[in-house]
Amino acid sequence: MRVLLLYFSGTGHTSLCAQKIKDAFLAQGHEVVSYAYRASEPFMEDVNAFDLIGFGYPIHAFNIPEAFYRFMKAFPSAEKPFFVFKVSGEPFHFNDASSYIGVRALTKKGYRLVGEKHFLMPYNIMFRYRDGLAKQMFLYLGPLCQAFVMGLCAGEAERIRYRFGHKVLSFFLRIEWIAPKINAPLMRASKKKCTHCMLCVKSCPMGAISVRKNGTLKFSSKKCAMCMRCAFFCPHDAVGFGILNPWKVNGPYPFDKLLPDESVDPHFIHEGMKGYFRKFLPYFRKQDALLKEKGIPNPLD
Ligand SMILES: Cc1cc2nc3c(=O)[nH]c(=O)nc-3n(C[C@H](O)[C@H](O)[C@H](O)COP(=O)(O)O)c2cc1C
Repeated sequence: MRVLLLYFSGTGHTSLCAQKIKDAFLAQGHEVVSYAYRASEPFMEDVNAFDLIGFGYPIHAFNIPEAFYRFMKAFPSAEKPFFVFKVSGEPFHFNDASSYIGVRALTKKGYRLVGEKHFLMPYNIMFRYRDGLAKQMFLYLGPLCQAFVMGLCAGEAERIRYRFGHKVLSFFLRIEWIAPKINAPLMRASKKKCTHCMLCVKSCPMGAISVRKNGTLKFSSKKCAMCMRCAFFCPHDAVGFGILNPWKVNGPYPFDKLLPDESVDPHFIHEGMKGYFRKFLPYFRKQDALLKEKGIPNPLD
């Protein structure tokens, strides 16, 4: 098969997921072309040259980020099978219907949904996940992508049901799409901390950050997708995130350092645990059962 992977990623977690899905397809002898959404780089491939298409995004307020939804909606029509991979910080069913409108838009264009999977990766907003939890999520990512791809290739991939209540919740929380328009004009780069390295300007997937004549940064209310990339990766924690500043998380999760670090225990979510994160247990139990069924080694064994 020739597989096309199209995805949006703010802080790299959906990119990592796309990479693991790509690796799994390649390992099965398929060909993969990936496109990471950037407003300035239009998608140029011929859809008809592919046998299967995957759409991936980070869940934002129980929805697809608006820019990526518009991309899906404007996608050329074709009678092709497609799948969805979505990434988010919590495993709750509230996130289930986030893809509903994107799937509906593609179905109207002739596409046929053949699989959908929700992958857990750490929060890039609100608060930083503890190292053990980030490591646990990352360790599961590869095997789960492998299981998902095995299912896709066998024509029996996972699907997600869109319950009415979750569709209603996603509908109302689409109000988040106007949040960047209000928040971006309030965003500032700290005069004390900003070194004008231009990392945020160059890496913004929406091309939303520019430099004024006086050297200060301007965050465009029309373009910002509130993906957090600028604030998350700023090496000097110089980006003030407007009204959402108290929810800012600065600094990427150092997965490459966490993996070999034996002092970081990845059994963060476990049977005996109590408190909020106990609610994550059903997700991990389900994934453990899936890996067992597919004969894929459990990353925590
Ligand atoms: C504006 C915004 C809204 C978010 N809303 C949700 C949400 O509704 N549910 C959730 O589980 N995670 C939510 N998250 C967390 C991200 O989905 C999560 O951190 C994901 O790993 C980010 O992926 P990325 O690095 O590809 O952007 C939100 C993040 C942002 C920036």
